[in-house]
Amino acid sequence: MADLEGSLLQALNAQECIADSGEFAKSQGVEHMVLVGTIRSLQASEMIIAEDIDHFRYALTEEAQGYLTAGSPEAQVFNAVPAGEEGISLAELKSKVPGEAGDVGFKQAMQQKWLALDKSKGEPRVVRKAASIEDRTQALLADVAAGKELGKAEAEAAKKRKLIKPEQWKTYKLTKGPKFALERKKPATDLTHEMLAKGTWRTQEFKDYNFNALGVPPSSGHLHPLLKVRSQFRKIFTQMGFEEMPTNQYVESSFWNFDALFQPQQHPARDAHDTFFLTKPAATPSERGVPADYMQRVQSVHESGGYGSAGYGYSWKVAESEKNLLRTHTTAVSSRMLYRLANQPGGFRPAKYFSIDRVFRNEAVDRTHLAEFHQVEGLVCDRGLTLGDLIGVLNQFFSRLGLKKLRFKPAFNPYTEPSMEIFSYSEQLGKWMEVGNSGMFRPEMLRPMGLPEDVNVIAWGLSLERPTMILYGIDNIRDLFGHKVSLSMVRRNPICRLGL
Ligand code: PHE
Repeated sequence: MADLEGSLLQALNAQECIADSGEFAKSQGVEHMVLVGTIRSLQASEMIIAEDIDHFRYALTEEAQGYLTAGSPEAQVFNAVPAGEEGISLAELKSKVPGEAGDVGFKQAMQQKWLALDKSKGEPRVVRKAASIEDRTQALLADVAAGKELGKAEAEAAKKRKLIKPEQWKTYKLTKGPKFALERKKPATDLTHEMLAKGTWRTQEFKDYNFNALGVPPSSGHLHPLLKVRSQFRKIFTQMGFEEMPTNQYVESSFWNFDALFQPQQHPARDAHDTFFLTKPAATPSERGVPADYMQRVQSVHESGGYGSAGYGYSWKVAESEKNLLRTHTTAVSSRMLYRLANQPGGFRPAKYFSIDRVFRNEAVDRTHLAEFHQVEGLVCDRGLTLGDLIGVLNQFFSRLGLKKLRFKPAFNPYTEPSMEIFSYSEQLGKWMEVGNSGMFRPEMLRPMGLPEDVNVIAWGLSLERPTMILYGIDNIRDLFGHKVSLSMVRRNPICRLGL
């Protein structure tokens, strides 16, 4: 190929013009098709100019190719008829020149009066009428094969008999182009230090910019579906005027995770089967972080109640409350924040808080459970809140998620009274599904913190995984979270818009 290009450029340089690329291809011993590839590429680089030369000729059909040597059908039929009065029967003639050649040849020979049909002796006999014949059809085919031009009438007749077919093709007249050179120069794509240093950039040819080319997509980070759904939840909360709580503390003391929430120390959820306790450090000394007076009030409400409560009537142990654990719910964060709210300088002010972060439970892992997951939690702390406010806020919140039909079922949490499980009707599944848990924090939790008597807190929680799995059609939680997650799933998953 490169050779062919070289010889073409050489020839063009010597002769200024190649009159017909067809001839040139022949002289190089290559198919014209091959040369056309070279011509096109040189033309694209403006090294040569190619002008079309249209060609036309007749070529023999496959059928005619046979007649070229065997003679035309009419001649074959004529030759098959013996000279003399006896002639030959039609059937015999047919067997001598079988097929279409026999039929066509007989018709032609009769038309040209080479043969005649003698019916005088009963059964018709084919006899010669001409003494000798000249096979003009064969001669015509030979002319076509030799590339000679045909007369119009002859050509039409032969075309009608399907002996010849028209053929069209193109060759090119080649001349030098504006960028003609004996050797193709590869245009540079980059300006190099060397070009600048040597000054060759002045004469160097540069490849044009292709402004239509699509760029290579830049590699970038990808948000995990949980993070996409989380940002939607954040948006909903912030639109509703909620502030995010600091959730960056996975390790908690039992105090904030359980005791502050009026969860008794014998509560089954505190069992190591449900809770991951730390061994190092196993405990947070209560002097660090829990004010003594508050701890005193917590102990007393657990042991003997107060604020209208009878308490649990057991002996509360500081050591139990000091045990370190991986927080089992984000409500641990809420209890810290509510304590802070009750004791901030300037006194209590109403607040709306939310959190979305990781929690840990010592659970058997299956399709829907992992030992760690994420909770979404919201709370409103204000004077005179009622269960009606909770239901109203829940309806607002969940309708922003696209869940418009809610139902509530009485439930139990150690830290809320009343408590309600939240169900939403799924049009898709045609059934009610549990979507969260909620309640009003008990006075046994709020009053020891120092919150005023008329202040109530309504709160609710749900998992981040569940809605994410529904939104992204994932039915095994291990495909969403953990070491088995496919990175391409993370790369490919679409954006999330809740409530749409
Ligand atoms: N902490 C609860 C849970 O783990 C959720 C909840 C939050 C319930 C706030 C009521 C109030 O499921």
